[in-house]
Amino acid sequence: MRITRFPPIENEAHEYHLRSNNSPWLLKTPALKSVNYQPHIIELSNEGPRKIETAIEDGVVQLSRDLAPLTITLEDAIMQRTSSRMFSRSPILFEKFSKLLALSNGLRESVNTKIKGGRNSPSAGGLGSCEIYILVFNVEDIKPGLYHYDVIEHALKPLKLGNFKRWTEKMVLIQTELTESGCLIFLASNQNRLLQKYGSRGYRLGLLDAGHVSQNIYLIASALNLAVTATGGFIDDTLNTALRLDGLKDCVVLVLAVGENQ
Ligand SMILES: Cc1cc2nc3c(=O)[nH]c(=O)nc-3n(C[C@H](O)[C@H](O)[C@H](O)COP(=O)(O)O)c2cc1C
Repeated sequence: MRITRFPPIENEAHEYHLRSNNSPWLLKTPALKSVNYQPHIIELSNEGPRKIETAIEDGVVQLSRDLAPLTITLEDAIMQRTSSRMFSRSPILFEKFSKLLALSNGLRESVNTKIKGGRNSPSAGGLGSCEIYILVFNVEDIKPGLYHYDVIEHALKPLKLGNFKRWTEKMVLIQTELTESGCLIFLASNQNRLLQKYGSRGYRLGLLDAGHVSQNIYLIASALNLAVTATGGFIDDTLNTALRLDGLKDCVVLVLAVGENQ
């Protein structure tokens, strides 16, 4: 039976939402149940996290793997979590920064754990669609610049080194005060991967994947006494171009500013 209860479409968001709906006819498509075993989907799953080539070999930053366990309970981390822009002028400590990335979207192997395989954030189809890029302003022992977080090596791969505070204020962020943070974390959705498996529904799933990583970042920041706030207020095209993303198959969907607490 076709469902016709929808109110009229009033804007692009409604249009998008309907286009990413699963239709009832999918239930009559037995091949879908075995989609995970199709060769091109197995290939996608095995592709693994992104690795970028960098011409700045001496700018690669190996993050710490020697990470002391968190000392607060999950319950306390949730209760203390808040969005804060009260950034201190002190650099984010290297150990904290390493821990934040490892726990939010790293491989489970990158931290002390007996569970092997997979990432520290759930993702649709286990495709790990959310890639992390970082703009460092003030992090201990790390040169300011734009980096990609290589989750396999647990390392930052530089795209471009330099102080991009002014550029960020003028060209990227609507809330310019966020450049007072220690770094900006850009959550980029690898739509290409999701669309190959899920079609239009992949867009929804990509946003949800990024949402999980964002919540991990919030909770770990809370546990490490770091200030953090998410923002959707950024200029997509400028940012995607700087990160060498095409803005469609790969696109930034959320920005988080993180710093030591005042
Ligand atoms: C997806 C998302 C987008 C957000 N965008 C902005 C933003 O553009 N500007 C801003 O100041 N805060 C932004 N925030 C932070 C929210 O305003 C904040 O989470 C909310 O006020 C609740 O406060 P709390 O996080 O301290 O509970 C965003 C949060 C999320 C989860």
